[in-house]
Amino acid sequence: MRILQIFLILLCGLAAAQQQTLMDYLERRLLAIEDRISLWHEQTSRYTSELREFKQQMVAQLEGLDKNKEALRSELDAVGARVDRVEREMDYLETQNGAQPCVDVEDKLVEQQVIVAKERNKAKYAKLTDCRDMIESIKGMKILKRVGGTKGMWSKDSGKVYLFNGTGEDTLYQFGSVRDFTSSQGVAAAKAVTLPTSWQGVGHVVYNNHLYYMRANEEIRLVKFDLQKSSEVDSAVFPAKDQLPVYTLNPETYVDLAVDEEGLWAIYATKENEKHISLAKVDPKTLSIEQMWDTPCLRENAEAAFVVCGTVYVAYNSKLPSRSRIQCVFDVSDMVTDDDAPTVYFPKRYGTHSSLKYSPMEQLLYAWDDGYQILYKLQMKKKLEV
Ligand SMILES: *[C@@H]1O[C@H](CO)[C@@H](O)[C@H](O)[C@H]1NC(C)=O
Repeated sequence: MRILQIFLILLCGLAAAQQQTLMDYLERRLLAIEDRISLWHEQTSRYTSELREFKQQMVAQLEGLDKNKEALRSELDAVGARVDRVEREMDYLETQNGAQPCVDVEDKLVEQQVIVAKERNKAKYAKLTDCRDMIESIKGMKILKRVGGTKGMWSKDSGKVYLFNGTGEDTLYQFGSVRDFTSSQGVAAAKAVTLPTSWQGVGHVVYNNHLYYMRANEEIRLVKFDLQKSSEVDSAVFPAKDQLPVYTLNPETYVDLAVDEEGLWAIYATKENEKHISLAKVDPKTLSIEQMWDTPCLRENAEAAFVVCGTVYVAYNSKLPSRSRIQCVFDVSDMVTDDDAPTVYFPKRYGTHSSLKYSPMEQLLYAWDDGYQILYKLQMKKKLEV
């Protein structure tokens, strides 16, 4: 009995001791956790204040950037205004002093080169012509006849009709009048004229009783042929290097000659500017080139082009013939831009145009469309003043 009592007391004592140890242990852990909590707390508040500081710095920097941006914008505005003023001054100087192209060019090289070219063209050409017409629409179409193959050219000069069948022949047909042409069977009523060499492409024109055509052997030569005397008058190498077909849809033509109110033009393309169509003014007497321009008009999908009052109109189509349309214009006097020349559609027809030749006397287009000889009547309006 006693032993049991002692045992119980011992057990209680042991339990009490154990409890105490547990309490001590828990207390130590709690202290440790408290320590760590306070450490975290400290760290967190440090982070928070650091973050706040960083945020303040960022705000300050952003404000600085905003100010810089404003300063930059006002600087740009100032520069823009200065450029405008310089341009206006150039314009003024040019109208005052058009006779010094060299000085002009040097001054302007400081400015954009594109502007230089445009301004120079304007200065030089504004005086040369009073012709102010531009095409507004195609008012009518008349199919006169079907004679010849898919490609060719026809036109009228001094009352006579000329027919050039194919892209590499040497015999053209001359009809005494439009009536002779429309009423005759094929080419039976025509006078056949055989040239000393065959023509290349469909770029030829008849102008003041002379035929101008391109002969292609090793080099592309411009030939002038007197149709009344049936003799070659003159010929000259076309002065552009590395020539390309001027329209991708009619690749036989390297130089397309055109006649307008101002005379003779050549529409051509070279490797140097291979994506675009170039233009040259040709002196019909000497066959020399008076001036050359790069136009913004693409060669790709172009089928033909012509010139009216110093403005080139380029007609485009697609490989599968659809509706021809004039989608690019270039005016040497800089009065017509693509903006004020809306796309002009040709009436829906059979195929693509092989050639489009403008007659300045009649304001008609002579078109060759898959062997059909077609006349288009043009609706004109006045070019806008700049
Ligand atoms: C026109 O040329 C085509 C080939 O391009 C030929 O088949 C046709 O006979 C020619 N017509 C005339 C009238 O010369």
